[in-house]
Amino acid sequence: MFKLDRKLIISASVAATVALLIGGCFTENAMASSVLAKQQLTIDGGIVYPIVEGKTGPYYVDESTLKGGYTNGRMPTANEIKAWDKDVMADGTGLPEGEGSVEDGEAVYEAKCVSCHGDFGSGSGSYPALSKGNAVELQKTLKNQRVNPDADGPVRVFGSYWPQASTLWWYIRDGMPHPMSKTLTDDEVYALSAYILYTNEMSIAGEEVDEEYVLNREKFLKIKMPNVDGFEPNIAGPNSLQGVRKYYANPLNFGVAKIKPADRCMKDCQKPTVQVSRIQNGGISDFLPPMSTVRDLPVVEEVANPQDEAKKIYEDSCKMCHGADGMGAPVVGDKPAWAKITDKGMATVYKNGLDGINGMPPKGGADLSEDKFKSIVDYMVNTSK
Ligand code: HEC
Ligand code: HEC
Repeated sequence: MFKLDRKLIISASVAATVALLIGGCFTENAMASSVLAKQQLTIDGGIVYPIVEGKTGPYYVDESTLKGGYTNGRMPTANEIKAWDKDVMADGTGLPEGEGSVEDGEAVYEAKCVSCHGDFGSGSGSYPALSKGNAVELQKTLKNQRVNPDADGPVRVFGSYWPQASTLWWYIRDGMPHPMSKTLTDDEVYALSAYILYTNEMSIAGEEVDEEYVLNREKFLKIKMPNVDGFEPNIAGPNSLQGVRKYYANPLNFGVAKIKPADRCMKDCQKPTVQVSRIQNGGISDFLPPMSTVRDLPVVEEVANPQDEAKKIYEDSCKMCHGADGMGAPVVGDKPAWAKITDKGMATVYKNGLDGINGMPPKGGADLSEDKFKSIVDYMVNTSK
């Protein structure tokens, strides 16, 4: 079985293929159920939510996939697992004996790699570069933009970026040359690795990888990549899984600002010392077409006093019938008449007015919102108390 810490690094596609072909990756399965049982966090710090009545939150979950007991497939044999478990690890696991020179590597490279990866691994079109110059120097560009956003970089190629050389060996043997992977001998892979180290201007244990260099397993394991400590969290070592969990359990480790409680601020937070830049008059004339320099705020129509507004609408739209005797409408100001009306309850009064009743047209025939109409009714009622 794959050990858990190694599963982290094993290529996802290999793991998925094993799972598909053999009908279940049993360690993974066991892990899933134990995680559920203990309510642990997932590897990246996520919470495993409980399944209640077949759902987590609003989503249905196929619980049979978590309980194990696949009904198809079978246990992989030890040899089947061995055949897939061919990753090459930084500690040398999986790295065979072998030998290859920079010179031989160059020949194989010219024959099988240059068409895509360009001269000296400089890359071509959308095919990645394998080197861009001195790896130790280029590794420094990974930080440039944090320090100074206008600086060059980051340059991410094998030499400057990859934390472990074992990945190079593994990648070339299992993936290259595209699309004829797994056609290289182990010695050719050593030779190609030597050549790529050479184009990245690297040294091994203080010795420069020059044109004469011959690489073998022993020397390969001494390679120290410039960016070996450049990744967080550190997934190397036997406790990598626990280490990664611990790392993600603390948000301060990945970007949450470390603010002291005393510095928290909800109001008047801008300290007087903070410089605020303002565009000065005439200071923005470089724009084409020129930006407007008009500073006036748009004119806001004065909001009318609601009482005055109601009076005006009344006079415009209601007074012709409600203003004087003889129209069959209750006259505004006629207290007994309006008392009789409001006795029915305002809800009814509003409704009669809105729908229209007897000689009263709906909304008095005026184009008013329901609320506005009601406010005019209120005005008439109040003026008649
Ligand atoms: C037909 C084109 C082609 C040929 C030939 C080829 N490669 Fe590649 N190589 C690729 C592509 C495409 C990628 C990127 C794959 C990806 O990122 O998924 C790649 C990626 C790589 C990488 C990883 C680079 C990185 O930074 O991610 C290495 C190392 C590499 N190739 C080595 C070789 C070597 C050595 C040979 C010759 C034995 C070779 N390749 C031949 C197309 C090719
Ligand atoms: C065309 C004439 C006319 C106009 C214009 C008019 N009304 Fe009336 N209104 C009437 C008549 C007639 C009545 C009495 C109806 C009845 O017998 O119940 C009435 C009754 C009412 C009542 C009392 C409803 C009830 O419950 O008995 C309200 C409230 C009212 N009008 C509000 C308004 C408002 C507000 C306006 C203006 C937006 C308006 N009216 C415009 C003719 C009019």
